[in-house]
Amino acid sequence: MTASFVEFARALRPEVEAELDRRLPAREEAPAVLHRAMRYSVFAGGKRVRPALAVLVGETFGAARELLLPGAAALEMVHTFSLVHDDLPALDDDDLRRGRPTVHREFDEATAVLVGDALLNLGLHLLMEQPAAAPAQTRLRAASLVAEAVGTFGMIGGQMADLEAEADWPASPQDALEAIHRRKTGALLTAALRLGGAYAGVDGASDELLADLGGRLGLMFQIGDDLLDVEGDSATLGKTAGKDENARKLTYPSLYGLDGSRRMLVEVKGEALELVAGLPRGLDLFTTLVEYLSNRDR
Ligand code: IPE
Ligand code: IPE
Ligand code: MG
Ligand code: MG
Ligand code: MG
Repeated sequence: MTASFVEFARALRPEVEAELDRRLPAREEAPAVLHRAMRYSVFAGGKRVRPALAVLVGETFGAARELLLPGAAALEMVHTFSLVHDDLPALDDDDLRRGRPTVHREFDEATAVLVGDALLNLGLHLLMEQPAAAPAQTRLRAASLVAEAVGTFGMIGGQMADLEAEADWPASPQDALEAIHRRKTGALLTAALRLGGAYAGVDGASDELLADLGGRLGLMFQIGDDLLDVEGDSATLGKTAGKDENARKLTYPSLYGLDGSRRMLVEVKGEALELVAGLPRGLDLFTTLVEYLSNRDR
């Protein structure tokens, strides 16, 4: 029995990586540069938080692990797509990701665009096809949940709003900022929880509870990311610290300061813990997840 979410994610990691390895095209398969670059970005050492969320929720609600792993791998592919594109010169223009040069730095920009496209596509395809033992209806719901979460009302829309806010801070920055974070980061984290639930047949009130919890966890995750951009160091983060201020990003620290941001993180933490208390099982691990998100170092 694992004692914390972090331990759970660590123990799960080799299985997620094996599933990713099984599902990604081989490096030598043509076009080899593209396939090599896809593997370069995926196997660079991400924390694999989203797969762990999906598997934890799925197992908590009674689904077998082997049924959950393809969806967990698909989430990580889609997430990695979002990172590769986030780093492009036209977006955040970053040189370092997951402790390595970004894909457009190691390869080139065209390859990075296509790697992102390919990872999104492969992730959605995987959700539609696997696990073959699950009913077609379940796979449809899985693909639909993730596609919607990365769409213009989710991650991609949030990324657009993030870029717009950078050029010109919006009129109501508080509301705009929360909406950006809920979309660019919260939507996919929420989809991870709901995806795990979907494979276990969860719907109705329990699905709504997972969605509400995902919203809080997503907000906590991105407030934490904003704080780490100011307070963390590039070596630990595996990405360049201090870049939000340089880019004049609208973030929690830029709007509320460090102390204000921490207070808001504690506030959202309280809301998340209330929701966790309403979960039927797996309680302890979710509590440790909220604890982890309130004070992470990478
Ligand atoms: C980084 O996500 C981008 C955000 C949504 C804040 P993670 O912090 O999960 O990055 P990896 O997957 O561990 O590299
Ligand atoms: C991006 O937020 C969230 C994504 C959808 C990738 P950030 O731009 O702050 O993420 P990092 O700090 O580059 O990982
Ligand atoms: Mg960004
Ligand atoms: Mg970025
Ligand atoms: Mg950031």
